[in-house]
Amino acid sequence: MKRTFLIAGNWKMNAGPTEASALSKEIASLWKNKSFNSEALICPPFVSISSVVSGFEGSDFKTGAQNVSNEDNGAFTGEISTEMLKDSGCEYVIVGHSERREYYHEDDELVALKAKKVVDSGLKVIICVGEILSDRKAGRAEKVVKDQLNTALNQLDGDLSGQVVIAYEPVWAIGTGETATPDQAQEMHKFIRSLLKDHFGADVAEKIRILYGGSMKPENAEELLSQTDVDGGLIGGASLKADSFSRILAIAESI
Ligand code: PGA
Repeated sequence: MKRTFLIAGNWKMNAGPTEASALSKEIASLWKNKSFNSEALICPPFVSISSVVSGFEGSDFKTGAQNVSNEDNGAFTGEISTEMLKDSGCEYVIVGHSERREYYHEDDELVALKAKKVVDSGLKVIICVGEILSDRKAGRAEKVVKDQLNTALNQLDGDLSGQVVIAYEPVWAIGTGETATPDQAQEMHKFIRSLLKDHFGADVAEKIRILYGGSMKPENAEELLSQTDVDGGLIGGASLKADSFSRILAIAESI
């Protein structure tokens, strides 16, 4: 079945409010008077969310967050809640990015709680999974991805196809310039879809989008996005330039 592409930019810890405002306006201006069928999204740092929401006003571009608390509100210094994100104009939230897992020690259980919190709030969640290089070399890539994904799915139930997106990001391909081959991506995406089928049933699993992330850029987007089970991209470096992000969106539109 044809799923709507989701082209999502992850700005990571780049672009404060001033830069974010300029960059989001530039992205929107490249699509002025042109509509697109894909969904397109930027996830800026928390402090830049309002700037991006304003920068995208009048366009079809959406705004997301890179992380969220698993708590509702209260004494959790430094944390941001789902309600705050909704209030700021966010539609999507990334959880379980490999940088959160590696540098901030977020484990599968915490990521699962965050995913549930996002879904319960009515926001849409992008759950990131992916193996590190040593896992892949040892033939453990599928096992790692399965454990990460199933822990999150255990918190989720029902037809959540409109609210749940999975991002497969092989950690060895993030920010390294190295990309999974289209075959490697398709193979893992197909495996992920089989896990989604086991959990949600075939109908729902067919509707859930699985994004590829890890050095996606205009030069490799077409071959990756052409794979049967690749339904979009989670794009870091290449989303920090209006032109390259926009070119990836244009490629999605052409497929
Ligand atoms: P990258 O980052 O495109 O710079 O590899 C992707 C991501 O971490 O989401």
